[in-house]
Amino acid sequence: MYASFKSIGAYVPTQVRSNQWFIDRMDTTDEWITKRTGIKERRIATQEQNTSDLGVEASKIAIERAGIKACDVDLIVCATISPDYMCMPSTACIIAEKLGIKDVMALDISAACTGFIYALSVAKAFIESGMKKNVLIIGAEKLSNIVDYTDRTTCMLFGDGAGAAIITATNDKEKSIIDINCSSDGGQKDLLLTPGIQSGEKQFMQMKGNETFKVAVRTLTSDVKMIMERNDYKNEDIDLFIPHQANYRIIKAVGDALKFEDNQKVLTVNKYGNTSSASIPMAINECFEDGRLKNDSTILLDAFGGGLTWGSAIVKFNG
Ligand code: ACO
Repeated sequence: MYASFKSIGAYVPTQVRSNQWFIDRMDTTDEWITKRTGIKERRIATQEQNTSDLGVEASKIAIERAGIKACDVDLIVCATISPDYMCMPSTACIIAEKLGIKDVMALDISAACTGFIYALSVAKAFIESGMKKNVLIIGAEKLSNIVDYTDRTTCMLFGDGAGAAIITATNDKEKSIIDINCSSDGGQKDLLLTPGIQSGEKQFMQMKGNETFKVAVRTLTSDVKMIMERNDYKNEDIDLFIPHQANYRIIKAVGDALKFEDNQKVLTVNKYGNTSSASIPMAINECFEDGRLKNDSTILLDAFGGGLTWGSAIVKFNG
C-alpha cells in the first residue's frame, strides 16, 4: 500500500493586518519590514476564532475535494504550536468533534514550522503500514495568541491561517508520495522558543532572528540537496518548489543556492507572513486554486522551525 496526496484546502481569517498597523504602534517603517522580510500584510483571527476553527474550515474543503465524507477519515493529525488548549485536549480532537467525526484516532504534532511535513510523514507511515486509509492532516495556527506585540523584532513576522490535506491509500506507486525526510536538533532549542509554564514568564514566542536566519538558509538548502540526491532527482523533475514561508530573503537565498527557476518557486509570505505549520499547505492550496498545481505535478516541500526541526518532501499530487 502507498500513500497518495489526494487533496488540499486552506482558510485564512478575513481581517487583514498591513504594515501600517505596526507603524502606528511601534518604531518601525514599511521600508524596514518589506526589505528585511518581504511581508506586506498578514491575516489575524477574531477573538472568537480558535486555531481549531481555522483548521475545520480548511479541512472541510480538503475533504470535499478528496471526494470522501468526513466519516471516512480514520486518522486526524494536526500540526500546531498555537493549540486551542495548552496541554489537552488536543486541537485534533476538537477538530474531529467540530467536523462530526466520531471514534477516530486524533493527535497533535508540535514541530513548529516543519509541522505539516512531520504530519505528512506520520500519515504516510500509517497508510503504508496498512493501519489507516484516509488521513486528514492539518497545519493550523493562531499565532497572534503567542506573538509578543511589544517586541518589534518578531511581531510583524507572523500571521494566522490554516491548511489541510487528505492523504489516502493507493495501490498505484506512480501516484504516491515519493520521499519524506524529517529531522531535529534539540541542541539549538534556544534559537526559537516559547517559555515553559514553570518559567513564570509570559507564554510569548522568542526568537534570535539573526542566528535563526543563517541556520535556516543553511539547513533548508542542505535538506533539499540531500532528498534530491537520495532520489536521483534533478531540478527539472520538480514542477513547484514550495518552501516554508518565513521570510522572502530566506526563500530567495535558498532558491538561488538550489538554482530553481522563478516559475518553480512559490512565494506567499508577502500576503500572509509566517503562519508556521500552516504556511506550506496554504501555499500548496494557492497553487491548486490558481492552476499551477495540476494532477500529477511533482512538488518539493522544504521547512525549518523551532526545535530545531527541519524536513523536506518530494510529493506527486494526485488531486
Ligand atoms: N523596525 C525597524 N528596525 C528594527 C525592527 C523593526 N521592526 N526590528 C529590529 N530593528 C533594528 C534592530 O534594532 C537593529 O538595529 P541596530 O542595527 O541599530 O542594532 C537592526 O534593525 C537590525 O536588526 P537584526 O535583528 O540584525 O535584523 P535582521 O536583518 O536579522 O532581520 C529578522 C530581522 C527579519 C527577524 C530576520 O533575522 C529573520 O527573518 N530571521 C529569521 C526568522 C525566521 O525565519 N524564523 C523561521 C522560523 S519561525 C518558527 O519556527 C515559528
